[in-house]
Amino acid sequence: MNVHPLFQPYHLKTLQLKNRIVMAPMTRSFSPGGVPTQNVADYYDRRATGEVGLIISEGTVVNRPASSNDLAIPHFFGEKALLGWKAVIDRVHADGGAMAPQLWHMGVVAPKDASWRPAAPFEGPSGLVAPGKIGGVAMTLRDIADTIAAFADAAAQAWRLGFDAVEIHGAHGYLIDQFFWHPTNQRTDGYGGKTLAERTRFAVELIQAVRKATSPDFPIAFRISQWKLQDYTARLATTPEEMEAWLTPLAQAGVNIFHCSQRRFWDPEFPGSDLNFAGWAKKLTGQSTITVGSIGLSGDFIAAFQGEASKPSSLDELLRRFNRGDFDLVAVGRALLADADWARKINEGRLSELRGFSKSALATLS
Ligand SMILES: Cc1cc2nc3c(=O)[nH]c(=O)nc-3n(C[C@H](O)[C@H](O)[C@H](O)COP(=O)(O)O)c2cc1C
Repeated sequence: MNVHPLFQPYHLKTLQLKNRIVMAPMTRSFSPGGVPTQNVADYYDRRATGEVGLIISEGTVVNRPASSNDLAIPHFFGEKALLGWKAVIDRVHADGGAMAPQLWHMGVVAPKDASWRPAAPFEGPSGLVAPGKIGGVAMTLRDIADTIAAFADAAAQAWRLGFDAVEIHGAHGYLIDQFFWHPTNQRTDGYGGKTLAERTRFAVELIQAVRKATSPDFPIAFRISQWKLQDYTARLATTPEEMEAWLTPLAQAGVNIFHCSQRRFWDPEFPGSDLNFAGWAKKLTGQSTITVGSIGLSGDFIAAFQGEASKPSSLDELLRRFNRGDFDLVAVGRALLADADWARKINEGRLSELRGFSKSALATLS
């Protein structure tokens, strides 16, 4: 296995990465009151020291009264939280790493702790969390404008604090994806519509606002998925044409990197080709893409949440696709959560030292 190609530098606008390994965003809920602590800075710094090229933070919420459903998920607004993030990025930079915060609004997804509710009701395009299932209120035009402004403010803060890029969480059935997905977007105004292209308007305006609030040179990554936590089999785009109609407006609005979330990176996206999601997104938009999903591990992350342990696995298939030019960057989730030195071990060929992942790794921020 020649892993050398994964350790080539990558440059895009102001983003300079020493290799192609990305830490996937992973919510850890270790930021009491929304403020990232010293432990959080240490945790990310260990990955920078472990030679990760780009660290994408756990989802960190924008300034809306009900953007979060968990009190220990970090905020990306407010003096204390931003000071916490400043400590994180300074540590990561001091150890030669690069980092982007993943900006998030959960929409109407219910909290795990059913006894807790934020001060305002959860908000979404139609208040629907799944087909026919109400999870909060439908957003007014004012709510939409204020939410777009909240994402733009957060991105401006990321830029000001010195982060290397920003990622917008448009995947997995959270707010932006609730606009994309027809069962959760039943609006009859300009933010709804029968076609996926029509339902991109919220995301398009949000990306444009983020671009305007930062700089033309600041890389914007955008995370997308077909699957939703409400329905793992859901698909937004069932053909390459539908995918093109979905992603082209987002690229035109300012997305530079599509982060294409799959459970298993080797799954083909459409019949008749072995291209995966990131492969198609790159082919259709010409933008950079990140692939993700069970890289270096035997089992996928949904199975892991259900208690299944994963063992280290070969990178041969990943390298075959990478060498063919299907994607530019590869995001690694659980393998990096279990082992901060995963990238370094891969680079140095220390394969016998790789660790598997089991759910117990989530208990601490190691
Ligand atoms: C504990 C945990 C938390 C996660 N939190 C987020 C998140 O905040 N934002 C996001 O886009 N994806 C999140 N994900 C999905 C991961 O980014 C990634 O796509 C998934 O784990 C598949 O990669 P892996 O198989 O390498 O773990 C999370 C996954 C895990 C395991």
